Amino acid sequence: MNTIKLTKKLLLVAVSGLMIISCDNDKYKKTNTSNTSDNPFASKVDSILDLMTLDEKLGQLNLPSSGDITTGQAQSSDIASKIAEGKVGGLFNIKSVEKIREVQKVAMEKSRLKIPLIFGMDVIHGYETTFPIPLGLSASWDKEMIKKTAQIAAKEASADGINWTFSPMVDISRDPRWGRVSEGSGEDAYLGSEIAKAMVTGYQGDDLTSNNTILSCVKHFALYGAPEAGRDYNTVDMSRIRMYNEYFPPYKAAVDAGVGSVMAAFNEIDGVPATGNRWLLTDLLRDDWGFDGFVVTDYTGINEMVEHGVGDLQSVSALALKAGVDMDMVGEGLLTTLKKSLEEEKISMTDIDNAVRRILTAKYELGLFDDPYKYCDVNRPKSDVFTDEHRSFARKVSAESMVLLKNSDSVLPLKKSGTIALVGPLANSAVNMAGTWSVATKQELSNPLLDGLKTVVGDSVNVLYEKGSNLDYDLEFEKRATMFGKDIPRDKRTDKQLLDEALSIARKSDVIIAAIGESAEMSGESSSRTNLEIPQAQKDLLNALMKTGKPVVVVLFTGRPLVLTEEDAKFPTILNVWFPGSEAGLAISDVLFGNVNPSGKLTATWPRNVGQVPIFYNHKNTGRPLGNTEGKFEKFRSNYLDVRNEPLYPFGYGLSYTKFNYSNLRLSATSINFDGTIDVSVDVTNSGKYDGKEVVQLYLRDVVGSVTRPVRELKGFQKVDIKKGETKTVTFKLTVEDLKFYNYDLDFVAEPGTFEVFVGTDSNASLSSKFELTKNESK
Ligand code: BGC
Repeated sequence: MNTIKLTKKLLLVAVSGLMIISCDNDKYKKTNTSNTSDNPFASKVDSILDLMTLDEKLGQLNLPSSGDITTGQAQSSDIASKIAEGKVGGLFNIKSVEKIREVQKVAMEKSRLKIPLIFGMDVIHGYETTFPIPLGLSASWDKEMIKKTAQIAAKEASADGINWTFSPMVDISRDPRWGRVSEGSGEDAYLGSEIAKAMVTGYQGDDLTSNNTILSCVKHFALYGAPEAGRDYNTVDMSRIRMYNEYFPPYKAAVDAGVGSVMAAFNEIDGVPATGNRWLLTDLLRDDWGFDGFVVTDYTGINEMVEHGVGDLQSVSALALKAGVDMDMVGEGLLTTLKKSLEEEKISMTDIDNAVRRILTAKYELGLFDDPYKYCDVNRPKSDVFTDEHRSFARKVSAESMVLLKNSDSVLPLKKSGTIALVGPLANSAVNMAGTWSVATKQELSNPLLDGLKTVVGDSVNVLYEKGSNLDYDLEFEKRATMFGKDIPRDKRTDKQLLDEALSIARKSDVIIAAIGESAEMSGESSSRTNLEIPQAQKDLLNALMKTGKPVVVVLFTGRPLVLTEEDAKFPTILNVWFPGSEAGLAISDVLFGNVNPSGKLTATWPRNVGQVPIFYNHKNTGRPLGNTEGKFEKFRSNYLDVRNEPLYPFGYGLSYTKFNYSNLRLSATSINFDGTIDVSVDVTNSGKYDGKEVVQLYLRDVVGSVTRPVRELKGFQKVDIKKGETKTVTFKLTVEDLKFYNYDLDFVAEPGTFEVFVGTDSNASLSSKFELTKNESK
């Protein structure tokens, strides 16, 4: 039983025997006998439904954005009059508990039925305390830690009036051209599912009515991460077997974990926009997967179906409702057209009632009918938001997310002595540290690398700083890449002056730290790129710094896998820090100086050039695989004339300051039947000079299938602490569930035969063994 269902059951026990609902409005005290579902609030919801006019019902389906509301004006804003008329079900992206309280007051004091509003926000990777961007968080491979980030985000957001987050975003993506790879957990369905569960349970907790948990919304259902050509919002076209095996699992994991709401994606699926796709939103989501929460559209998702070319606003609104949409974000298609569709019998009152029922149920689950102001305690932000405790946890999380891509001369960790030249357009930019989709962050309070360095090394190191270059030479590009106040102000100095001043401090230093890469808004929504290189101005800066002969540590900021082929060939030391969040500078410095040994591992493949995209580790073998792994070209085999097949950095890759050796892979049996369990054990030795953490990864290959199977798939991982000189045995348990996949008929099955197991430090793991899955003896 999932947590929401459990909570519902408990509440049912708690409220049974009460003949009235606990809200103080007498109108709700009506009983209703149409409670046929297992929804403990059904009779209460139905009693409200009975009282509602059609307009009030449509109002519940309406989710405007907060628009122009400012503190002190909430009661007189345009939205306030709609709320008073009962035309609003909830609001989103309104920040501050005072404002939210004022707006809730309008609903509770001025609307006829006094139905509380739900307040949503994109709380994506933390609230004011901001954690690394989700792609970075996933690189920690630490489910418990990720769950705790969601708990903290829920605590802070709920303290500030928010009770619903549009997170987690679990869209699998294999295309780094798509800017929103930054918002997800990378390319792998198994890892993505584990993280989806961690986030949903982190936000919602065991008890959604408690005032420090919030409703989660898994998005973007479905397949939003596979747009053609990596261009945001573009068409998606995919076989069902790929959807089921490679893209759906994280959404399903969120549903299984009890997620309370689902956001429909902008893209089409099988020629029907997701927002109007009944197969997706009802047959699959509700009937097959048993989802019992509510579905919200993405921003104007209904209206956009007009542009998709499937009808006018009235017909696409009816299509969405019929498909299974319950709440309309911003577009007001449901609010303004459903009455006509009802009169014309294109939809029924039952269709409308079902949607209203789901939204009212969510409000009950949050406890809003008991106390509409339960998330509106104006004293809470002081004690619960951006606290020292949360920030010190964020510092730890950020350091855990960083991926050491290269350290071939062991320049890292740095010594806390001598002179350091800190150079680069990202070195002193507080506002860029939180990364994309950080609505609630106080970006100017984030800790930039320059400050972090000075704090961590104190007076023991002489830190010199110069910007060195602008983000890019192209001013127009730079404007597009620095939105929402996340500026990197254009320097008044010429490119040459900037460079000369950087070179002058570089020459005086023992080591150079180059803080370069993407700005925060070079990835994220509507930030697709066809060129995945570091901007040219920064490439030129790096090359000039290298010529000084001083060791250069490349500290790379990015929201996506980049093409680093040139830098990898030239620079011995590259630390990928993503966008680390509010405590960025401190966390980066912790890693640079060895207070923390890096342990992050990539969750998306980094290509050699953009022409290799889409590139991912769990591909199929094809009928003409390459016969060598040395990158030699083979005519009439599946490869390129101009670049080898392998990526620059594979999925699962990431170095440490120490060294881990794998040995003694052993299986507890050579075969299992469908009821069996097999233990896979490996010894991991820390043979280097530092204590460290290693993400031990297990991959499986189903050698022969009724349909073609990937060359390998992640099926287990464990992050283990291993002291220097120590050996730890790591054991994974496999059951038939780990061997299952969706076959041609889309049945979830395991097929008898040989399975190859690989265990190691990344997706190229070479230690391997085999076992057989055999049919059970018939009894
Ligand atoms: C995004 C969603 C987001 C919504 C509300 C849309 O543009 O696609 O991910 O939740 O806006 O802010």
